[in-house]
Amino acid sequence: MARVIAIDGPAAAGKSTVGRRVAEELGSFYFDTGLLYRAATWQALRQGMPVDDGPALAKIIDTTAIEVRPASVGDGRLADVWVDGQDVSWQVRRPEVDRHVSAVAAHPEVRAALVEVQRAVAHRQPTVMAGRDIGTVIFPEACLKIFLTASPEERARRRLAETQPEAGAEAFQAVLEALQARDELDRSREVAPLRKAPDAIEIDTDRLSIDEVVQRIVALARARACGGQ
Ligand code: DC
Repeated sequence: MARVIAIDGPAAAGKSTVGRRVAEELGSFYFDTGLLYRAATWQALRQGMPVDDGPALAKIIDTTAIEVRPASVGDGRLADVWVDGQDVSWQVRRPEVDRHVSAVAAHPEVRAALVEVQRAVAHRQPTVMAGRDIGTVIFPEACLKIFLTASPEERARRRLAETQPEAGAEAFQAVLEALQARDELDRSREVAPLRKAPDAIEIDTDRLSIDEVVQRIVALARARACGGQ
């Protein structure tokens, strides 16, 4: 698929920040697939649905209108997320969604319910798509696959700077542990686990600035005439 750039990697590796900038530079659409799993999780929690019932969760997805669009409000959000006509862009970032989203995303029925939504997005326009399984499952034929990583400590530091800039060492430890727990679940699930596709290019962002990472990906995309320019 000459129009898709896949960016996969663990939580808080910088996929959204980098992906949006790459899409801007190439004039393509940015889509964060994690928001679909987050919206489904938020809806399930709101309805008091147990997160261990895959078929029931898939039914919720099938009967819920989930929309992810570019941010329409300048309040710091990275995207608009609407569930059944309600703006839940901030709710889907809450800690209770963080705690349950990996369990929801591990169900094969849930993943199956969201495959076509993701493919349809990139069929409409050239897209930079971020997630965990974009290069391995959703678009194995993507023209560029990036696997973005950073050490757990660096990812926890970035996540904390974003969400609680004043927080101390105790909060750092809690964020670090929550990230590692989520990564472990995402890596060990049976269906579409988080892993680098054999033909993906791994970029360790620990010692790189956002600009350097973006420019590296844009150069790779241009060299392959990939991503819609
Ligand atoms: O990217 P994120 O942290 O917002 O993603 C939230 C969760 O959704 C993540 O822990 C695993 C799941 N997810 C997934 O399983 N597959 C994707 N393509 C994207 C996210």
